[in-house]
Amino acid sequence: MCGIVGYLGEGNSKEILLHGLKELEYRGYDSAGIAILEGDNFSSFKAVGKLVNLEEKTKDFQTKGFSVGIGHTRWATHGKPTELNAHPHLGESSYVVHNGIIENYAELKEELLAEGVNFLSQTDTEVIVHLFEKNLKAGLQPFKAFEKTVQTLDGAYAILLITKGEEETIFFAKNGSPMLVGITQDSNEKFFASSDTPLIGYATEVNYFEDGDYGYVNKEGIVIFNEEGVKKEPSFKTLSQNKLSAQKDGYRFFMEKEIYEQTNVISDTLLGRLHDEEVVFDELPSDLFDGINEIKLCACGTSYHSALSASYLFERYARVKTSVEVASELRYRDPILTTDTLFVAISQSGETADTLETLKMAKEAGLKTLVICNVDNSSMVRLADASILTRAGVEKGVASTKAFATQVTVFWMLSLYLSQKKQTLSNEELKRQICLLREVPAAVVVTDELHEKMKRLSKRYLHGHGFFFIGRDIFFPLALEGALKLKEISYLHAEGYPSGEMKHGPIALADPELFTIALLPEHMLYDKAKSNVEELSARDATICAISPLPFDKADDYIATKKQKDYMLEFFEMMVVVQLLSLEVSIRLGNDVDMPRNLAKSVTVE
Ligand code: F6R
Repeated sequence: MCGIVGYLGEGNSKEILLHGLKELEYRGYDSAGIAILEGDNFSSFKAVGKLVNLEEKTKDFQTKGFSVGIGHTRWATHGKPTELNAHPHLGESSYVVHNGIIENYAELKEELLAEGVNFLSQTDTEVIVHLFEKNLKAGLQPFKAFEKTVQTLDGAYAILLITKGEEETIFFAKNGSPMLVGITQDSNEKFFASSDTPLIGYATEVNYFEDGDYGYVNKEGIVIFNEEGVKKEPSFKTLSQNKLSAQKDGYRFFMEKEIYEQTNVISDTLLGRLHDEEVVFDELPSDLFDGINEIKLCACGTSYHSALSASYLFERYARVKTSVEVASELRYRDPILTTDTLFVAISQSGETADTLETLKMAKEAGLKTLVICNVDNSSMVRLADASILTRAGVEKGVASTKAFATQVTVFWMLSLYLSQKKQTLSNEELKRQICLLREVPAAVVVTDELHEKMKRLSKRYLHGHGFFFIGRDIFFPLALEGALKLKEISYLHAEGYPSGEMKHGPIALADPELFTIALLPEHMLYDKAKSNVEELSARDATICAISPLPFDKADDYIATKKQKDYMLEFFEMMVVVQLLSLEVSIRLGNDVDMPRNLAKSVTVE
């Protein structure tokens, strides 16, 4: 979802900016561009589509000495993905890149148009550069002109701006969209990016900007002001240089690699948190659950599905009332938020705009807040009262897999942690649950046999008029997640349904071209779920049953292992539905890691 990079120094600006943009590809984009100021000479390049198009356009360009540069991958919000709408946007002698949404851009644009300013794009971003130049023309020094511009903007933004007349400076501002600056100890170089990865191998220390921060960098250093205009010192942290997990390791796609990685990352998630008779979260304040009578979980997309799974576990094991909310809905429906509720935001990235805003809402309403997140130092982690990191490692595939797996693992542990506090499970049952958790890494191992089976099976599911993924209890959120995976990367229509709901309408669609992926665990309502599938089979729907128990009414049958508990069946079936989507998508020739229209990190509402 739009990515920003910036560079100041003697190095090869073009290569550094393009490298940075490549590292941000996973966020999703439909056009890209860079602008470099060397002396008083501007060079700017933009291209629609993938970064190779921009690389092609810049192939004959090189900087020779000191320069400042900014770059951007754009995911269209205001205006189509065209070259004119791609960033950087030009005024008369300045360029800007921006991630986020300027909410008052329409009024600002109207005023500027009335004053005779010429706009080239349909974007909200372009107002920034024209406002800046208007302030310059009014006689303000460049930094004051930039400061005044930032103060005029409403909305979410991470902004970088370069201008002639200040050839050794990059101006920046951050509010609501992520941005950091990196440095090394032995050079004057400065590196900007929307996330850590572009800076790995370049910077050794980074400062994460906070909402309201703005300022400038030059050879001498970094000058930051907070939203009150008070100067503040950067707070540098060491940047981890481990890039190993960010490479494909021989797998065809990152998503495939990430499915295989689940066994290791779940082990990491469990590490140090499971004692023999107790679940331990050292990172949680011991009084976090004091005075709490209810838990409200809030998230988007896949993280929402893991939250739904959590609601079954929290109520079943910890007997605590739990509700689950889609973040974009909660934001605007004037909800009742009471201080005996623990607000839990779930996010792989920790940057999803809607989820972040609900977290702010909950904080403002005085609720205690907890974040389940995969990215340390992300906006949500920094904002919440407490956080649990899922430890999934960098997830590059746009379709989330290992992040979901680790979120559900955390929730299972958290439900037990809570049950300890509320004494809702016997010691014996708690010990049994802890033993089961230790078996999750084994349950998600992808065997050659299974993967081969999914490869063969996938060819039968490339047509038809839709898929229903069905399951009961916690297998209903898994069905939702299975359907989301399939539609994201195969572009085939798929829905997740509670098995028992099919007869209340959807069964009308049943015919041989309707594919039902039936989750039939042995240890959770098997007979009930089976009879729901039989109803569909009787109406000639094509059935693919996923179960440890053979099912004679199925057209296709994927045998899962005999497990001791439904949660182990849950994790094993999760892998099966992930592999099914992967193989269908590959057969259809789609870009598995970067599906059309999708972005990895959705930092606009
Ligand atoms: C789907 C997927 C998305 C995200 C959603 C929330 O595969 O990845 O549905 O789950 O955009 O993102 P996070 O978890 O980063 O808040």
